[in-house]
Amino acid sequence: MDWDSAFASRARHMQSSEIREFLKILQDTDVVSFAGGIPDATLFPLDDIRDVVAEAMRNDDDARMALQYAATEGYGPLRQWIAEYMTRAGVPCDEDNVLVTTGSQQALELLAKMFLGPGDTALVQEPTFLGALQAFGAYQPRYQTFRNDLVPSAEDVRTDALRHGSTLRFAYGVSDFCNPSGESLSLELRHRLLDQLSELGVPLIEDNPYQELWFDRSPDRSCAALAISRCGSIEKSPVVFCGSFSKVLVPGLRVGWMCGARGVIRQAAMAKQAADLHTPVLNQMIVHRLAVRTLERHLPLLREAYARKRDIMLDALAAAMPHGVRWTRPAGGLFTMLTMPLGLDATDLLRRSLREARVAFVPGRAFFAHRDHGNTARLNFSHPNRSDIQDGIARLGALVSEVVASMRTSAA
Ligand SMILES: Cc1ncc(COP(=O)(O)O)c(C=O)c1O
Repeated sequence: MDWDSAFASRARHMQSSEIREFLKILQDTDVVSFAGGIPDATLFPLDDIRDVVAEAMRNDDDARMALQYAATEGYGPLRQWIAEYMTRAGVPCDEDNVLVTTGSQQALELLAKMFLGPGDTALVQEPTFLGALQAFGAYQPRYQTFRNDLVPSAEDVRTDALRHGSTLRFAYGVSDFCNPSGESLSLELRHRLLDQLSELGVPLIEDNPYQELWFDRSPDRSCAALAISRCGSIEKSPVVFCGSFSKVLVPGLRVGWMCGARGVIRQAAMAKQAADLHTPVLNQMIVHRLAVRTLERHLPLLREAYARKRDIMLDALAAAMPHGVRWTRPAGGLFTMLTMPLGLDATDLLRRSLREARVAFVPGRAFFAHRDHGNTARLNFSHPNRSDIQDGIARLGALVSEVVASMRTSAA
């Protein structure tokens, strides 16, 4: 069977994430990895998880409910908790405005399926979350981009889409401590983005799994909250907010959510029904109990631990990297992004780094819709332990210094 010719043309646009492919290789090597976008598993609240799993299964009625088919929209108490959480965060809503999803990755996939057709335009942040580009890619859009410090005017966006015979369908961005850069959209830029989108009449998908992982001060109000202040109610808001329990509790239970006007939630529930009927109820029950009893005291531990690792990484970078290499100084989240001298290709560097320095990272090109910026790299600081951060960055810095020096010699 020639499978490649049997697939629909959209299958050609489904790309495997470089990162996930890569993580497979890392499992059985001694490489120090800054590649995964994953939390520190030593911080998982295991005792609480053991307790709530036992509780959810102790009583026959609860256990039967946990293991039965269930409503697509989600487990009622969890939807209610999320609606209250969103309301506290400046997005007044009720549970009909919430769809529980199988990770926020699923929310992105459902939204892509709902909004994008071949040739449509998506306006995406650059750099941006690779998983979003993967989710969108299968629906064959073209991209326009905005930067953390610059949003194009509505007129420019419209003209560009028209020139390509295309229609702009939505904008997508991570407002706080973005994966991969660790940077946030300024309040001014959030307003500007909302202004442009309201002129263009298209929705904003605000993906915000890191907003609680702040180190110094809590982030600015989300675009979802700002939009409601402008238009008065979630039913009139153009923002669909995607949230996740992966980074603040555990990723393996795969529980996230989408919050927006009822019309978009109803349509997303239909799309989800075709995808997986519902997110496992047992997982939702566990997450609900953890959200109620664990989250508030767990968050300060995460913030402190990740802030310390960020500091160790930034100090190690300052000590090891040669002149001409820059990096972001994230105020939250899990990542920093390196920008190396133009002409240095991070994919080539990675090959050498795995061989010689035994250090892994993700070449930054994967996070750019147009696959440029080959001189950038994403470094994760949440997962490696402190001594690995110091040793790994020292070894990577020595290699980058050697590469930069040889580029200068051959240019001279
Ligand atoms: C910006 C962003 N959005 C969404 C996700 C998906 O998270 P999950 O599906 O685990 O909720 C990630 C995971 O790394 C992410 O960085």
